Amino acid sequence: MKFKRHRRLRSSASMRSLVRENHLRVDDFIYPMFVIEGENIKNEVPSMPGVFQVSMDLLLDEVREVYELGIKAIMFFGVITAKDEIGTGAFVDDGIVQSATRLVKQEFPDVLVVADTCLCEYTDHGHCGVIHDHDVDNDESLKILAKTAVSQANAGADIIAPSNMMDGFVAVIRKALDEAGFTNIPIMSYAVKYASSFYGPFRDAADSAPQFGDRKTYQMDPANRLEALREAESDIEEGADFIMVKPALSFLDIIRDVRNNFDVPVVAYNVSGEYAMIKAAARNGWINEKQLVLEMLTSMKRAGADIILTYFAKDAAVWLKEDN
Ligand code: PBG
Repeated sequence: MKFKRHRRLRSSASMRSLVRENHLRVDDFIYPMFVIEGENIKNEVPSMPGVFQVSMDLLLDEVREVYELGIKAIMFFGVITAKDEIGTGAFVDDGIVQSATRLVKQEFPDVLVVADTCLCEYTDHGHCGVIHDHDVDNDESLKILAKTAVSQANAGADIIAPSNMMDGFVAVIRKALDEAGFTNIPIMSYAVKYASSFYGPFRDAADSAPQFGDRKTYQMDPANRLEALREAESDIEEGADFIMVKPALSFLDIIRDVRNNFDVPVVAYNVSGEYAMIKAAARNGWINEKQLVLEMLTSMKRAGADIILTYFAKDAAVWLKEDN
């Protein structure tokens, strides 16, 4: 009887690595970090073991660790107490993310600082834009977001990553950056961002949970697939240089759709809830954390992601070295 012998190509570790189709590299990672006001603070986020809110005076030590592991890009989220209706803390020149960016770029000029451009960490209501009549006002929010992006670029951010899901945010931010002379600063658009329950731990870490309602009028319905293509298409038309899909793990099909339809770099955001679930299972001894995380991150590459934003970046960098 004739049949195919697929096992021939799996016969040894060397054979398997010869035919391996997808590879995870430390160059693929962006590491998200939480910067908090105050001094000498390093708070572990309870639902995210191994992830800390770090004050500015301890930040360089944290970034040095990341840098020495070979991770080339980081993203900052700010944690502040003085919030207001319009999220002033997001766009002031001495804002927490702006200050962190200046500090880090001075000490580590070749670390890429990615700025998350959103208002939810800075508004007292916790929404990603300004509120009128109990809903987020799209066009009013755009003005503040454009200001935020320019202030982040002024502070030295290398990439602007708007995560607010207002319509037109790429167009407005691109125009504002260009007018301010930042024609060479790329936009990494959170183009395809779902209204997901996987963001829970992040909202604890960044103190950014909406104080009323939810984000369903601006973030996408997790049931939708074609809508992802419309979102990605309009952002690319408006000038996005990268397209992000978020969350990643339950949305690998969407990563593949975006990869198949567009030719810009695709970023997968391996979000806080995905991190928390694995950490919890690992703490219980229910899974092999290293193997599972590497498998999961590789699956994002296989789905079509070029870049992965992940809280596992440091762990994965260590594990990838061990395996080499
Ligand atoms: C800001 C923002 C969020 C995340 C990244 N940027 C939260 C949200 O939309 O509520 C979530 C990241 C994560 O869960 O790791 N809008």
